[in-house]
Amino acid sequence: MRQVPVSELVPGMITVDDIYNYNDQLVLPGGYVLNDKAIIKLAFYSIPFIRIQDSREGAAPVRTSQFIQESSYSHRIKTSPEFQIFQSTFETTVDDFKASINDVVEKNAPLDVDQLMKDTLSLLEKGRNSINIFDMLHNMRQYDDLTFTHCINVSLICNVFARWLGMSDEDIHLATQCGLFHDIGKLKIPEDIIKKPSRLTDYEYKIIKTHPFEGYNILKEQDLNPHVANAALMHHERCDGFGYPLGITAEKIDPFAKMVAIADVYDAMTATRVYRGPMCPFKVISVFESEGLQRYDARMIMTFLENVTNTYMLNHVRLSDGREGEIVMINRLALSRPMIRSGNQYINLADQPSTLYIEELL
Ligand SMILES: [Fe+2]
Ligand SMILES: [Fe+2]
Repeated sequence: MRQVPVSELVPGMITVDDIYNYNDQLVLPGGYVLNDKAIIKLAFYSIPFIRIQDSREGAAPVRTSQFIQESSYSHRIKTSPEFQIFQSTFETTVDDFKASINDVVEKNAPLDVDQLMKDTLSLLEKGRNSINIFDMLHNMRQYDDLTFTHCINVSLICNVFARWLGMSDEDIHLATQCGLFHDIGKLKIPEDIIKKPSRLTDYEYKIIKTHPFEGYNILKEQDLNPHVANAALMHHERCDGFGYPLGITAEKIDPFAKMVAIADVYDAMTATRVYRGPMCPFKVISVFESEGLQRYDARMIMTFLENVTNTYMLNHVRLSDGREGEIVMINRLALSRPMIRSGNQYINLADQPSTLYIEELL
């Protein structure tokens, strides 16, 4: 039996304990054989670590990153010149972000928002139309510094998301800022708790759950639009009231925090890929659909998922039964289950049993 961070789980591992979320709802039972969807579900509920059974003698060894067979889709992206540029700009941005943020958190130094935003936005400007930012993020390896990388990811997702929502240039800029600083409070949480390799105690969970307050306190002292501090305070709130730290419902949650909430959980779900190669976005969308769209702002979540799905229109995919085809039509009521053309056959996944689904992008 050993503790494994959710980002390092691979299909085939077996859970030891019943796993509950923050609200004491059962997420997965003990003795469950993990598949992709179950792993994404754990990330959906922000579960950091679980205990898994030791592999029995003769059982297949756990795969590690070197042995993962990379899909041709991901190989194409990773070898493209756009990706190479993106990756190196990303690394520099993370380093700069880290350097300036530490001063803000520790010495209350003023935040040079313009410079930080310039770095982040330059990631998007490199070939705006030729790159799909989601493909880039899905294929990035996870860096050691989870908080900083995650903040930049969420910021980029918020930028694209704000455009999809038809926001003004000013609000797009603001949404990008809200994403960039949403988890800044985590830097006030002792590192040994954030990186603890074993199960967190209730007390340690409580400490982690103070990061929205910590973030709010840092940001409200800065010369920033009040939505930025609100987004830090409320990005773990959920429209149904089952979020934290305040447990407030939809009408009280800042709209920018509602956007960040979606970008935040999407990044966490797609980040569960270190040992498994890149994520299939349709599996992520299906977990959103099965675990509760009502936890998020209805218009925002639909806009977000519809647009993510649309990015993959006409993409080649492999289905769970091995057939290959291309996505030819999106079903608005079942976004993870589009219509697929395979040869001269049309397969409407929405009408098919749930055992048939998109396994992989090709
Ligand atoms: Fe957070
Ligand atoms: Fe976050």
